[in-house]
Amino acid sequence: MKNLNKIDPAIAQILEKELSRQRLGAEMIASENFVSLAVLEATGSILTNKYAEGYPTKRYYGGNEFIDQAENLAIERAKKLFKAQHANVQPHAGSQANMETYFALAELGDTILGFSLAHGGHLTHGHPVNFSGKFYNFIHYGVDEKSELIDFDQVRALAKKNKPKIILAGASAYPRKIDFKIFKEIADEMGAYLVVDMAHIAGLVATGLHPDPIPYADVVTTTTHKTLRGPRGAMILSKIEDRLRPNDNPSASLMTRKNLAQKIDSAVFPGMQGGPLEHVIAAKAVAFGEALQPEFKTYQEQVIKNCKALENKFHEAEIKMVSGGTDNHLLLLDVSKIGLSGKEAERLLDSVHIFTNKNMIPFDQRKPMDPSGIRLGTAALTTRGLKEKEMAIIANIIIDTLKGKQAKDSNKKNVMELMKEFPLYPEL
Ligand SMILES: Cc1ncc(COP(=O)(O)O)c(C=O)c1O
Repeated sequence: MKNLNKIDPAIAQILEKELSRQRLGAEMIASENFVSLAVLEATGSILTNKYAEGYPTKRYYGGNEFIDQAENLAIERAKKLFKAQHANVQPHAGSQANMETYFALAELGDTILGFSLAHGGHLTHGHPVNFSGKFYNFIHYGVDEKSELIDFDQVRALAKKNKPKIILAGASAYPRKIDFKIFKEIADEMGAYLVVDMAHIAGLVATGLHPDPIPYADVVTTTTHKTLRGPRGAMILSKIEDRLRPNDNPSASLMTRKNLAQKIDSAVFPGMQGGPLEHVIAAKAVAFGEALQPEFKTYQEQVIKNCKALENKFHEAEIKMVSGGTDNHLLLLDVSKIGLSGKEAERLLDSVHIFTNKNMIPFDQRKPMDPSGIRLGTAALTTRGLKEKEMAIIANIIIDTLKGKQAKDSNKKNVMELMKEFPLYPEL
């Protein structure tokens, strides 16, 4: 950071302070991770200088021969990693990837059936304050009140009643495996598109540790920065051939029925975005290359083992978990049973350097800004090298802090000492 220190010491100091915060804290926000130095280098590279509107070999600007090579590598690696027919690696973020997918498959005002935000879905799955809820007629399914698992009877009944153009699966705060086969059956019954937003679980899917949506879904969107451990961004995977809809002429050739891959590509550019972030696309290529290595599967296995280790400790301490536990990288604790709100729990844990986020729980009686739950994830800590033994230590500190309703200095010190044993970016 020699140049930054000289040219802009204010920003340089902020980066230093943030690095120190990341190093000394236990990062348990389920949507975060730590990228490799190689991903970091590509993200911070001179590719940021280049305009490359369009797609490889079909650009609106000259001088893109090397950019094309990087983007093609990202596309090929993404397709290999997820065994997908088509990959568009240009979406700037998960929200854009979802917007572009809706643009490609539906008309404004069309009906989409998605997972309720209050039960674990995402803002872009039709929340009224988001573009999705404003532009489309979203209907929401949720979880069963008792099991807190996705209520497929409700999904089917709502699909039958509302005849959605798209059925959307995927979540931001769902601690269990999602059965995409059932979603596909329901989508087929209705002639609806099946779209899966696998942002949270992409790393688990890539390594076979979560059921794979690719064989079932017409389109799969994902961020690249969560369990997939790439740069902040997203991509859209899809089938090439479009699904026949009730009004389509089945004898029309594929060329006259615009194919699905083309629809997605046009919705991304020129539909929604301009110049792609080619430095980030190069970093996606690096991350996909890393995810194709055998070590990545070992890493993802450890992510799940670590989450299970937390679950065991919370069980022992009789802390209520949504759905009773986890089979992925995250857990949702119902802290209302301890007499805390999610906001208070997040603040208490922040004070002992454990970073989490407040979260709604299904059928929450409280408001989104101060809900009843907190969400915990293990992807970032596992990247740092923590295993079950350390997870038990962290779980004990969480339990002590929440049950004691106080942020003890000794707990903060212990978290910082533990994190120092797992240095983050020692090279920086
Ligand atoms: C399931 C899901 N989809 C989409 C997004 C949006 O991604 P971004 O924040 O990159 O727009 C998120 C982010 O948390 C998510 O959890």
